Amino acid sequence: MVSSATDPDEIAAIYDELIDTYEAEWEKQGHRSLHLEYYDEEHEEPGPAAINTMRQLAERADISNTDRVLNIGCGVGEDSVWNARAYGATVIGINISEQQLELARENAAGHGVDDRTEFRYDDFHTLETIADNSIDVVWGLEAVSHAHNRETVLKQCKRVLVPGGRVVLSDLFFHESADMTTYQEDIDRINDGLGLSLGAIDSFRETLEAVGFTSINTSDETEPIRPSLDRRHKFARIAHPVGRVLSFANVFSDTQLGVFKGNSLIRKLVEKGVLGYYFVTAELSDD
Ligand SMILES: C[S@@+](CC[C@H](N)C(=O)[O-])C[C@H]1O[C@@H](n2cnc3c(N)ncnc32)[C@H](O)[C@@H]1O
Repeated sequence: MVSSATDPDEIAAIYDELIDTYEAEWEKQGHRSLHLEYYDEEHEEPGPAAINTMRQLAERADISNTDRVLNIGCGVGEDSVWNARAYGATVIGINISEQQLELARENAAGHGVDDRTEFRYDDFHTLETIADNSIDVVWGLEAVSHAHNRETVLKQCKRVLVPGGRVVLSDLFFHESADMTTYQEDIDRINDGLGLSLGAIDSFRETLEAVGFTSINTSDETEPIRPSLDRRHKFARIAHPVGRVLSFANVFSDTQLGVFKGNSLIRKLVEKGVLGYYFVTAELSDD
């Protein structure tokens, strides 16, 4: 049985508690994203590689200045701001953390795109603040791995999309036919530590089909994000044992230690060929 944090408040609390760690990282890298970096010959440093992840995804979605984009799980606004600045899209970002939403609004204002971006408290399982048939592209950069029910999320995406609307997302998924049972303990620790509910790419594809999406494309992009996992693991390899040994001094909280450990175990399962990173695109038919 897979255990995971499924309560939105619990998931938000994990992010909120790590905000100082992220702030330090953002300061160093010159961007404010919460996603893995996509490395290639032209993007060999963490900052540019993080921007490259957004570019790679946006190109697959063919984002343009006429698109109304819904960013499910918008972090502190980096990918919403990117789509507004780089492509002129209009973006609504939703999140279950008020702290992240506030930072997202500041981020958008700082980049002069607060007229084209809006950030709302909403859960992607319900999308209560989003009207039917009002969105051209649903964008999810490392968000659906937090979903405890991906079918419910996709049904909501279908409801808010216009006919011909697109879904574009990237995330960690178990590879098709991966041996999950051998690694169940690791999977439980990842899910618990990071507030995830990881699922398999083949079952996600089946769910997209069952909900009514067509032109479904899934591409395995594990190689370009591998250095990103190595980088997180390098930090965790030092921080996790130091934090545990010095637990009496509260250098890191249990939540922080859970995140560090989870990141190391993600890398382990990627190395074992169990977990991978996928880009997924799909469409609704025009009628
Ligand atoms: C890995 S972060 C990615 C953030 C952002 N897309 C980026 O690339 O920087 C995942 C985000 O999903 C949000 N999230 C998790 N569960 C959610 C839910 N049920 N509804 C809306 N957002 C959620 C988290 O708070 C977090 O901002």
